[in-house]
Amino acid sequence: MKVITIVGARPQFIKLGSFSRELRKFHTELIIHTGQHFDSEMSDLFFRDLEIPQPDFNLNINGGTHGQQTSQMISSIETILIKEQPQLVVVFGDTNSTLAGALATVKLGIPCLHVEAGLRSFNRSMPEEINRVVADHTSDYLFAPTQTAMINMEKEGLSSKAFLTGDIMVDSLSWGSEKAKSSMIMESLGLHNQHFSLLTLHRPYNVDDPLTLSTILSKLIDLRGTVVFPIHPRTKSIVEKNGITIPSNFVLTKPLGYLDFIKLQEASTRIITDSGGIQKEAFLLKKPCITLRSETEWVETVAEGWNLLLDVFSPNLIGRIESFNPTHKAKQVFGLNVTKKMISIINNQFIN
Ligand code: UD1
Ligand code: UDP
Repeated sequence: MKVITIVGARPQFIKLGSFSRELRKFHTELIIHTGQHFDSEMSDLFFRDLEIPQPDFNLNINGGTHGQQTSQMISSIETILIKEQPQLVVVFGDTNSTLAGALATVKLGIPCLHVEAGLRSFNRSMPEEINRVVADHTSDYLFAPTQTAMINMEKEGLSSKAFLTGDIMVDSLSWGSEKAKSSMIMESLGLHNQHFSLLTLHRPYNVDDPLTLSTILSKLIDLRGTVVFPIHPRTKSIVEKNGITIPSNFVLTKPLGYLDFIKLQEASTRIITDSGGIQKEAFLLKKPCITLRSETEWVETVAEGWNLLLDVFSPNLIGRIESFNPTHKAKQVFGLNVTKKMISIINNQFIN
């Protein structure tokens, strides 16, 4: 059958890599890239690293307000769906591209499948929370990464369309870890045999206010050792506009490709982040993760003791980061061979 997958942002390319590889064994896929992320190191690099075929449609829609961005995406996606008449549309995660894809699809009466459904931070000030709730309630098939996601959906009356598949990033990471062995990023950043913390920041509540962002960075000066900081474009623009100083113990880089970033995660002493995907990868790679947020959708990583949630303004931030050192074995909470399970559910629903 003809399946259209819709992506637009970095974490979605990573999920698409595994999904597309398995889907194409059985079905014809057309890829719509909304253009939400557009720098070569936020987009093209991922299609190369993950060996994803070039998108069939690139809408080049980015920037603007949430309403402007989402409405332009809905309109352009709708035009393509009317012309292509796919039997199924697949959206991933919780970005504006997810929301636009789901709305355009269901309004046309085309079945929509949401991968990474059922997550909730219960923080409605996060744009992602609104996107997830709407995508889940409008989509026809919901693939849940965790048992907690299934429970969240049960509470919202969504169980009849929910499937527990596990997290597709498990497959992307295991595929990427093999390929990452040949990455030379450690050498090119001059990090050989060095202890370092790996930092990423892009959540609006951490970076949009220059005072908050400079407070976070200035606190991390006191961290022992080097901090490697591949800077997200959102964060970079706030740093540049406001002349925020990057601490002297930082190695600042542009955003890195997936394989280089996996290599750095594997080599790091700890990961400090506000990313959703990186919390999971840290857990899967058995790296202590400090999440600079007061809540998370990935509650299992905290319950298993490998993820520490820290408010950036909490006292003794550095002491708490440095003393967080889990070593125990964690349960397998994100599943295995997830993509095969997903495609076999699709085949059962649509073909058999
Ligand atoms: C988006 C998602 C977020 C996800 C993140 C992953 C929404 C509402 N947010 O946040 O859920 O965690 O992606 O990284 O969908 N920019 C560039 N070049 C790029 C990409 C972005 O300059 O390649 C700029 C944009 O023009 C914009 C800013 O960065 O000014 C933020 O981009 P945007 O896609 O709106 O939100 P993210 O913070 O990236
Ligand atoms: N990532 C990457 N290069 C980087 C930073 C992150 O390849 O410089 C990958 C990371 O391995 C993870 C994903 O990007 O798979 C997470 O995306 P991001 O943090 O942008 O978004 P979120 O998961 O928070 O939505």
